[in-house]
Amino acid sequence: MERPQECSSPEWERFFKDFRKHSPLKEVRFILAVGSGKGGVGKTTLSVLLALALKGEGFSVGLFDLDFYGPNSALLLSPEKVQPATDVGGYKPVSLEGIKVMSLSFLITEKEPIFMRGLMAGKLLQELTQRVLWGPLDFLILDLPPGTGDIFLTMLDLYSPDGFILITTPHKLALADSLRTATILKEKKIPLLGVVKNMSDLFGKEDSFEAFLKEIKAPLLFELPFLKELTEKETISEIVDTPWGNRELKILSQNLLKRIFRVH
Ligand SMILES: Nc1ncnc2c1ncn2[C@@H]1O[C@H](COP(=O)(O)OP(=O)(O)O)[C@@H](O)[C@H]1O
Ligand SMILES: [Mg+2]
Repeated sequence: MERPQECSSPEWERFFKDFRKHSPLKEVRFILAVGSGKGGVGKTTLSVLLALALKGEGFSVGLFDLDFYGPNSALLLSPEKVQPATDVGGYKPVSLEGIKVMSLSFLITEKEPIFMRGLMAGKLLQELTQRVLWGPLDFLILDLPPGTGDIFLTMLDLYSPDGFILITTPHKLALADSLRTATILKEKKIPLLGVVKNMSDLFGKEDSFEAFLKEIKAPLLFELPFLKELTEKETISEIVDTPWGNRELKILSQNLLKRIFRVH
C-alpha cells in the first residue's frame, strides 16, 4: 500500500486506518505500546518483563523494539547477537525465551549510528511494518523510542495501539515529559491503560506523582523497584525465575489484563 502523495489529513487518516488491516499485523489481536517521553526510564526493561509476564499467562507474545535511537531489547533476552531469518516474503522474528522478537538492531551493525530524519525513518518504519511476519499473536508489545517527535507520532499512527503503558520515574523532569506523552495519547484517542512507576525507591518523597496520576486520569498499574540484579545478570530471564519475579510478574500481568477488560 502506498502512502498518499498529498498531505491532506483525510487521506492520511484513511491510509492509517487501513494500514494495520492490510499489513502482517492483521493477525495480531492486541497491540500494546510501552513509552514514556523520556529516555533511560525503563521502557525496554518493562517491555521485556511484560512480554515474559504475558507469556507466563499462556499468551503468544511478540516484541518489537522500535527504538530508532538505541535498539537494545534483544540484548536483555539473549547474550548473543541474533539475526532474523529473511526469506522472499519478509523478515521472520527470532524466537527468544518463547517470545517472537524483532528489533531494528537486527538490521544494523553495532557500530552503525542510526541517523535518520523523520521522513526516512517513517518510510523505513512503514516498510518494516509490512515486511515483519508476525503471524498470529495474542499480544504485540512495542518498545517505543523516547521523545514525542515525528518518529514517535508516526509509530502511533501506523500501529494504532489498542493500549498504551506509560513508564516513568517519579522525578518531576520525567513527569513533565510523561505529561506531554499523555496529552498526545488523548489527542490521538489511544487508551492509556496505566502508569508504571519505576525505581521510586531511589527517589525521595515525590508528591507530584499522585498529582500527575490525577491529572492524566490514569491508574498506577505497577511499581517496579530498583533491581540490582539487572546490573549483574546477563539476561533478564534470570530475574524472572526468582521469588520476586514469580510473584511480581503475576501482579503485573493480572493488573494489566484487568485494565484491558475494563477499557475495551
Ligand atoms: N527497575 C530497575 N532496576 C534496575 N535498573 C533499571 C531499572 N529500570 C531500568 N534500569 C536500568 O536503567 C537503564 C535504562 O533502562 P532502559 O529499560 O534501557 O530504559 P529506556 O528503554 O527507557 O531507555 C538500563 O541500564 C536498565 O538496566
Ligand atoms: Mg529502550
